Amino acid sequence: MKMIISLLLIGMISISSVLGGCNQDYECGNQPFSICRNRFHLFPGIGLTSSGSILVMGKYNNSAGQQVGKTYIASVGSGSVSPQYPINSDVPSYPGYTQSFELYDVVGSTPYINAYQVGFPSVGPYNDQSGTFTPIWTVARYILGLYFDQPTSKTYYCDVGVYRIDKIASTRADKETATKLYADQRCNYLATVGSDLYILVNEYSLVTNHSIYRGSVNCQNCQPTNLIKLASFPGAASGFFIRNGNFFVSATNEYTNVPGIFRMQISNPTSRTALTSDSVGDVVADGNFAYYQTWAGYQFRPTIKKVTLWSTTVTTLYDEDTAGTGSSGTCSCLDGFSGANCQTCSGGTTRWTNNGTPTCVKLLASGQPETCSNGWECQNYPYTQCVSGACRCSEGFTGDRCDKCSGAVQWDNGFPTCKL
Ligand SMILES: *[C@@H]1O[C@H](CO)[C@@H](O)[C@H](O)[C@H]1NC(C)=O
Ligand SMILES: *[C@@H]1O[C@H](CO)[C@@H](O)[C@H](O)[C@H]1NC(C)=O
Repeated sequence: MKMIISLLLIGMISISSVLGGCNQDYECGNQPFSICRNRFHLFPGIGLTSSGSILVMGKYNNSAGQQVGKTYIASVGSGSVSPQYPINSDVPSYPGYTQSFELYDVVGSTPYINAYQVGFPSVGPYNDQSGTFTPIWTVARYILGLYFDQPTSKTYYCDVGVYRIDKIASTRADKETATKLYADQRCNYLATVGSDLYILVNEYSLVTNHSIYRGSVNCQNCQPTNLIKLASFPGAASGFFIRNGNFFVSATNEYTNVPGIFRMQISNPTSRTALTSDSVGDVVADGNFAYYQTWAGYQFRPTIKKVTLWSTTVTTLYDEDTAGTGSSGTCSCLDGFSGANCQTCSGGTTRWTNNGTPTCVKLLASGQPETCSNGWECQNYPYTQCVSGACRCSEGFTGDRCDKCSGAVQWDNGFPTCKL
């Protein structure tokens, strides 16, 4: 990771024309290829490294409020956010699907990322050498509950059942070694204490509830009826963890009119104490504090706060709405661009997005762009098409240039099909 930090720093020290920091993009030279980096827009998700850094994900906004450049994993300081690692493979967006990233968790110093691809979550570890991530859990139509028990090096998850993997899963092959603990049981969150397994389930029906159940980490292929329901509260939970014999549950105000973070003794879980009444999204904790992101109404409102676990003292660490004011920014080229005018896109092709901002898209060895959202971005279109964010040969065609057809070429509305 250290290598990447230094590479990133070199990239950021570029065409700074403003001493003492910038505020607006126009202060940074050639528009729209250069940017004043001071408005970091947060994505959902928060994590804590084993050395105590709070990590989040997001992208820089330009002065016009458009998100530009790469997605970064960033660390949160007091009042500011510093990008640490870039995500080099952006999730392609294409008509009908939105792209988005979320920081799922951090194990040791490895961020686990959730990329919504084709509308489904896809979760796996970030690789600091390549700047990409390895999807392990690709969960179509199911909610994923995932918990890394770092002290015992085990992974617990639920999709259509509850599973245990006897290591910290880092590849798809690791997932194939999972033991099924409970069949036909889904969940949103898990945690363990010794051999007790606790799962939290958001139950959506006429009234939305969240319930905590106790089971065993050693049950094998057990039925959901073997789980014991300990407590049920109104609304959906947005986070769950255990510290010192207490459950902690967070909730946004989307599915409950009692948002916040609540503490319950495991020995007496039906009575709970509120630590904050904020609308709380994702939450992580060390032994003393919970670190959380706030939401407003049905919308993610990117403020990061911390609250004491054993009292109710709240401190704001980063507020996106007030950060980036004043001359705190650094001038640089947009990600991928270089040169005196920031217009050089080496090894790539410049794509203009609808909002008038340029992106440098890497070209693959085949000459095709790494991602696409429209067919005309692919070489040899319409013998090629953009399918699921990548350039592919049109139906039936083969060859490097996708123009080989061993049957009859039929044209329909200007598009060729190779009928074999
Ligand atoms: C960044 O832009 C988004 C819209 O794309 C906006 O909602 C958000 O408030 C902006 N944040 C900052 C820090 O400018
Ligand atoms: C939700 O919880 C309440 C008690 O808090 C209970 O009366 C109700 O039956 C629960 N509903 C469901 C669908 O579990």
